[in-house]
Amino acid sequence: MKTTASFLKMKKEQEKITMMTAYDAPAARIVERVGTDMILVGDSLGMVVLGYDSTVPVTIDDMVLHTKASRRGAPHTFIVADMPFLTYHSSIQETIKHAARLMQEGGASAVKLEGAGEVIKTISKLTAAGVPVMGHLGLTPQSVGVLGGYRVQGRDSRSARKLLADAQALEEAGAFAIVVECVPEQVGAMLSEVCEIPIIGIGAGVDTDGQVLVYHDVIGYGDVHVPKFVKNYAQVSPIIEIALKSYVDEVKAKTFPAQEHSFTMNEQELRGLYG
Ligand code: KIV
Ligand code: NA
Repeated sequence: MKTTASFLKMKKEQEKITMMTAYDAPAARIVERVGTDMILVGDSLGMVVLGYDSTVPVTIDDMVLHTKASRRGAPHTFIVADMPFLTYHSSIQETIKHAARLMQEGGASAVKLEGAGEVIKTISKLTAAGVPVMGHLGLTPQSVGVLGGYRVQGRDSRSARKLLADAQALEEAGAFAIVVECVPEQVGAMLSEVCEIPIIGIGAGVDTDGQVLVYHDVIGYGDVHVPKFVKNYAQVSPIIEIALKSYVDEVKAKTFPAQEHSFTMNEQELRGLYG
């Protein structure tokens, strides 16, 4: 299994780091099989599979459940689990309890926390306790209420400089990598150049040390509305729809199940059944 040291080495050797979300065992199995470097059990699962319209309602129990499922599917891959909304802000005891659940019950290799400021102290304490922490800067969806919507961050030089200072503070606090979401490509490039730890971009251009995308977005399953920074490498929704519609039609038409899907009783037992 790769470790935080493997990711540092990949950055040094300029090998791009690939990361993809998985929320369940069958997805994690394929994500592992194709050789993805890191799996993210993202709290995006709230929107992608639980049907919420933000990540705010996601609970620690939701995250533990989906981390466990993903770990069963991908036993050999480094898994990062998101700490959900307001589970790392009240006290360090509570924060450590939640991180412990993700790692011990869920089987996560590391946790991810959004933001800087107050969160920097928390990252130091977690890493001092032995919890590998990934940071998350730029567009931080748990703060959508404060940011006033899902929009590009760090577009002016002042906020870009603030992002750089935050990234350096996270690195100083012991984070092993940072996800940077929805920033100009020049900002993604600058952060990757200045920081020693890997910068994993999503909507941050091609020059970051790695990329992360949501599994469902990669395969085109679910939402019709995807952000500009997403690429659908396939469109599986229409394929699923064709299969499901065929099943419904065949049941109505009595063409499913066919003989090949059915079990048969032998003649003698059949005579016994009808007396
Ligand atoms: O929850 C998630 O999927 C994420 C990625 C978008 C980085 O945090
Ligand atoms: Na997330």
